[in-house]
Amino acid sequence: MKSKPDLLIDIERTATRILDSWKDKNSVIFCEEARKYTFNVIVKQVLGLTPEEPRTKEILQDFLTFMRGLISVPIYIPGTPYARAVQARIRISSTVKSIIEERRGNSCKKSSDFLEILLYVDTLSEDEKVSFVLDSLLGGYETTSLLMSMVVFFLDQSPNAAQQLEHEHRRIRSLKKNDEFLNWDDYKAMEFTHSVINEALRYGNVVKFVHRKAIKDVKFRDYIIPAGWKVLPVFSAVHLDPSLHGNALHFNPWRWQTEDQTCKKFTPFGGGSRCCPGFELAKVEVAFFLHHLVQNYRWKVEDSEQPIAYPYVEFQKGLKLSVQRLSS
Ligand code: HEM
Repeated sequence: MKSKPDLLIDIERTATRILDSWKDKNSVIFCEEARKYTFNVIVKQVLGLTPEEPRTKEILQDFLTFMRGLISVPIYIPGTPYARAVQARIRISSTVKSIIEERRGNSCKKSSDFLEILLYVDTLSEDEKVSFVLDSLLGGYETTSLLMSMVVFFLDQSPNAAQQLEHEHRRIRSLKKNDEFLNWDDYKAMEFTHSVINEALRYGNVVKFVHRKAIKDVKFRDYIIPAGWKVLPVFSAVHLDPSLHGNALHFNPWRWQTEDQTCKKFTPFGGGSRCCPGFELAKVEVAFFLHHLVQNYRWKVEDSEQPIAYPYVEFQKGLKLSVQRLSS
């Protein structure tokens, strides 16, 4: 993909641009802001498009329509969410195809995004390449933006955690020049931030389960899962099991200062060979956004909104926050 410093600078710039746009606002619909942020990051890394380009807005609009149709009755009747989703998928796919064609025709202008690498892979057909791009865009923005919403929601309920987070980020900033970009070492030094993110992943369960199929008989404890059977590992059942995570129904980021994050009782990004390839990108995005959020704003969740699982976790009103900018 990109060299890390470029990627990190892109992410941080995208975060500050979003937060600057709140300057004169008293409230924001946070889920929309988070989607804008994670979408702008992923669309830049995958397709090389900047937020200002009209195509970025068009693709985002189509993705939102596509997402709305994901959980609907799959019968094609024009005007239904399903039919609109099918149309949106066709439009996104043709936009991606036209970007691929433009790039081919402009082979002297090199970019450093994911598409550039994909263009020269001979083993994939054109449709497979488009599908690869769509999966990366889709996998890369909705989950991360939901994680951000969860973090912001839990921090609103946990003033001690919000305060400790602010201290951590002020300390990191105090060691840098005013407008110097964050780097990988800064990210690694954000210890409490990592605990907050882990806890939001455990307690918030952005992805609750995955689909698996046994390709041969599998022995699991006293059971045999026959070849061909579908299996649904439910992560949320494990993440909320009080015998594995003490006081499991409480947001407690401090638990991660002692708990092991690499064990089988914590698998927010799946596991094995299909483990999420974007897990570190997602965490960097959240950490960098928080870096600027906690130092520049106070926020409060309005209307006592709570997340619900429907079946994907969501905030039905989009998580409205009242925001107050701190004077620098
Ligand atoms: C909070 C953020 C995220 C969460 C919770 C998450 C979670 C997951 C989970 C649970 C899986 C399935 C793993 C399995 O089947 O074992 C997955 C797969 C995947 N994720 Fe993520 N993900 C996140 C962010 C991202 C990002 C930022 C990207 C893109 C860069 C991404 C791209 C993908 C792709 C392409 C797959 C399919 C991998 C495969 O089937 O081989 N995800 N993710």
